Amino acid sequence: MAAFCNKDTEHGRAKRVILHKTLQAWFPIYFNRGFRRVNYIDGFSAAGVYGETELARGDNPITRRVNEVCEMGSPLIALHDLTKCFAKLTEQLEYQATLPPGPEGEGISIQELLETPDKALNERQLKYGLRPPLMADIVLVEKEADVMQYLRNNTGAWNSRDYQYDDGIVKYKIHYKQKTFQEAHQEINENFLRVKDQHPIWVRDVPRPTFAFIDPCGYSHTPMDMVQNFLGENKSALINLMVQYFDRFKADQGNIDSLFGCQEWRRITAEDCEERYISYAKLYEEKLRERGATYTLSFAMKDKSNNLMYYLIFATNDKEILSKAKEAFNRVTQEGDDFKFNAFYIKKNKRTLTWLNIQNNEDLAFVIWEDFRGREAVRVCDINDHVTLDTPYIFRKAALVMLYDQGMVSYIEGAAPAKKHDFPNELQINFASSEEEAAKLRKLQNPGTPEEEAEGIWFKYQRRKGIRVGDIKPRWKEALVILYDQGKVSYIEGAQQDRRHSFPDDLEIDFALTEDQATELKHLQNPETEEQEAEGIWFKYQGRQAIMVRDIKPKWKTSLKILLDKRQLHYDEGHEPRRLVNHRGKCLFSLAHDLHHSAIAFYPTEFLGMFSTWV
Ligand SMILES: C[S@@+](CC[C@H](N)C(=O)[O-])C[C@H]1O[C@@H](n2cnc3c(N)ncnc32)[C@H](O)[C@@H]1O
Repeated sequence: MAAFCNKDTEHGRAKRVILHKTLQAWFPIYFNRGFRRVNYIDGFSAAGVYGETELARGDNPITRRVNEVCEMGSPLIALHDLTKCFAKLTEQLEYQATLPPGPEGEGISIQELLETPDKALNERQLKYGLRPPLMADIVLVEKEADVMQYLRNNTGAWNSRDYQYDDGIVKYKIHYKQKTFQEAHQEINENFLRVKDQHPIWVRDVPRPTFAFIDPCGYSHTPMDMVQNFLGENKSALINLMVQYFDRFKADQGNIDSLFGCQEWRRITAEDCEERYISYAKLYEEKLRERGATYTLSFAMKDKSNNLMYYLIFATNDKEILSKAKEAFNRVTQEGDDFKFNAFYIKKNKRTLTWLNIQNNEDLAFVIWEDFRGREAVRVCDINDHVTLDTPYIFRKAALVMLYDQGMVSYIEGAAPAKKHDFPNELQINFASSEEEAAKLRKLQNPGTPEEEAEGIWFKYQRRKGIRVGDIKPRWKEALVILYDQGKVSYIEGAQQDRRHSFPDDLEIDFALTEDQATELKHLQNPETEEQEAEGIWFKYQGRQAIMVRDIKPKWKTSLKILLDKRQLHYDEGHEPRRLVNHRGKCLFSLAHDLHHSAIAFYPTEFLGMFSTWV
């Protein structure tokens, strides 16, 4: 067996964890999209298994499972992940029913396919039936004959067999190529990369989904012109760029030119060591994008001596797959937001590798807030895209929940989801523009006490009229009682509640315009003295005609007498209290527009005396 297979390394294992976690997502994504046949190409396969490593083992189930997988070499990892994927898919009897409809104008959805009486389409349905066999072509290239023999033995169990899972059939077809990658490349290109399949759901020819793992021992076997064939629609590639190695052989300019597909790398050679390696990776990513990849991502691998050895570079045209590769990178990242694995650090700090995702969602929340503050009506899926494409983080809705609880994010009124803390992809949300604004919103959205909630509600609804209590969804109705007593909330006239402080969900309420107005209303709604109440009544009702006392519901009727005494109030004609003495609370009266226009001056004094008898 090749020497390196006998002795595994930490970074080698980290590399294979990345491959495993990426493939674990990649296979199901394409089969779930309706493809029935995919390619996995391993350009530098090796033997398929590794010996024991010195790695410490974490004792949680995920760590144990991943450790098992990464004792496998890349071909066995691919077969293992594929088998798991097949087993899962064939268990899901209805998995095709969940396929998304085709883009408009591009074909026909499965629903239409099933419903149409058209013969040709029915034939298509038969051909691509609901439970077609799922197939994978596994192309394994290895130039060494003895290594290839090991590889055949190690993968024989899968070779060219059809497997029956429940009532679904899956097919593995392993293509062994005992030659160099350069020699095999032409064949691979013709037979696998250029193949177009008709998408089973949408009537359109598309390249068969292909994942290429390009993991050479050096730099001269993977020229960019060759790598380019693994880039483009439905293609993803994980490439090992051996920066440290080719940097040592800078004089071999011709081969390094081919590796990059340009000469620009030559001007990087003057930079400082690690800076130089970073620049190589950036340039390589740029070239991959020029050659057909839409998205690229780099992961730095350091050895036990803290030397940056190589970069794993992922290239794809698919956002969903990119985010899965990021998740995989994150599993192997030890800390921070830098995609880096450092065997030296692990040894020095006696760290146990857990292969768990260590992203701190608070950091992500902070980044989202920094990038979106002050923006309104931002779609959740656009935030996801930004995080996935422009930051080293993985998008997690948990970060939006944190921002919501801090008041930094809020739902657009009338468009809030049924459940608090829910952030469906198409939902639009607002970002507060400052920490102060957020602090106030926080009191509304995640209040600790009814007082805090009252503050938040006031901040949001001040000046607004006719707001349904059910739309405010207060955690504590007590918050509305507080606002009512402060005069900030009032019942809409005519919709007054029988019971003061009652706030049923379908009740509509008004919010005061200003703090001053609220103070006046407070005197009406929560007066401490008759004088205060009189002031409040005057504030609210001045200039109004034919008001029923029972609508005002004064706490003390003497408040009305105060107004009467001050000639701010007079009785409506025909409603003088003499007649209403026996109808307590049912008297009609009017308040003067203001003191100047008051008609009260004309009342006979005995009237006032009588008034006091019914209050
Ligand atoms: C780094 S190892 C691959 C490890 C493997 N991808 C894994 O993760 O288990 C490189 C392998 O490629 C083989 N190899 C070297 N040069 C090659 C070439 N030009 N074409 C194909 N295979 C080659 C070596 O014999 C070796 O087995």
